[in-house]
Amino acid sequence: MNTSATQKMDIQKVESSRIGQVDFDNLTFGSTFSDHMFECDYKDGAWQNPTIRPYGNLSISPGAKVFHYGQAVFEGMKAYKDDQGKIWLFRPEENFERINKSSKRMAIPEFPHDLFFEALTTLVKMDKEWVKSGLGNSLYIRPFVMATQVGVSASPSTDYKFMILTAPAQAYYTGDVKVIVADHYSRSANGGVGAAKAAGNYGAQFYPTNLAREKGFQQVIWTDDSEHKYLEEAGTMNVFFRINDTLLTAPVSDRILDGVTRKSVIDLAKHNNIDVDVRPVLVSELVEAAKNGSLKEIFGAGTAAVISPVSAFSHKDVVYELTKPEDSFSTRFKKELMDIQHNIGEDPYGWRFEV
Ligand code: COI
Repeated sequence: MNTSATQKMDIQKVESSRIGQVDFDNLTFGSTFSDHMFECDYKDGAWQNPTIRPYGNLSISPGAKVFHYGQAVFEGMKAYKDDQGKIWLFRPEENFERINKSSKRMAIPEFPHDLFFEALTTLVKMDKEWVKSGLGNSLYIRPFVMATQVGVSASPSTDYKFMILTAPAQAYYTGDVKVIVADHYSRSANGGVGAAKAAGNYGAQFYPTNLAREKGFQQVIWTDDSEHKYLEEAGTMNVFFRINDTLLTAPVSDRILDGVTRKSVIDLAKHNNIDVDVRPVLVSELVEAAKNGSLKEIFGAGTAAVISPVSAFSHKDVVYELTKPEDSFSTRFKKELMDIQHNIGEDPYGWRFEV
């Protein structure tokens, strides 16, 4: 791995903050960015010139490879402020490891550990006023890497830009979500890039998701690409099913992202003595369970939405409605996760990281 973390970070502060212009009660997810951003370039085989500067436009050649071949990866993380004004991240080592795993799959050079954490914590501290306290409030953090070499030859870029943006956030989805189980389109394939947070994985979902929206559903439950027999992810999240009192989710693979919220939910469930079955889950099982009444819950798990309960799913044009049970797992996991994230009560897992 190339490291140049010894280089001193150049820090340029805004002359005056934009924070006074922001309506923190009416935010659209990920569209208002805080005062500063981090950038670092990869050139001549090394990451160099780490800089924090005022958030603003970039000047990039239209010939940069990212625009032609989509050689780009990203991460999603959040910072939370507790009632004492302390700021916390949730399992940031996981995101660091995953961005490098994604980069490797996309032939992008890995980013140095110490520089990642120095950039992340310096940036969050500089924009700490943008992190609002209160359950549901957070600062969404978007690290990403893109290929900047100019040239349309189809080969890996020699130059890259690593950046971190931050954006104040409230709830990602408001209310429950209705989903369609995919029986034609797919988001990933064996040997593909489904396990990476590659930018194009998300762009490729937009068209089938638009088709679902036209039918009145917000998201798609992705199934395996060959036979559409197995349930894999939901929208941009991992997905869980509760049949009777067992929690089911698919194992991670080439096709399924190793979600931080996913692995945290599995640990929470085990800690709560809930049976967890990590195994391929059949569409036919889901339909059967919906018909015989043993399907209690479906929910997505991801950084942006945390836990997103599903209120109905459609398969082959038949709609199955779900009524949230009183002892809802999704409600319990969401509360337990958010309490840990916001530094309310204990963190027996050691997931919190103080900035
Ligand atoms: C997540 O929730 O983990 C995501 O990746 C959502 C993001 C694409 C907005």
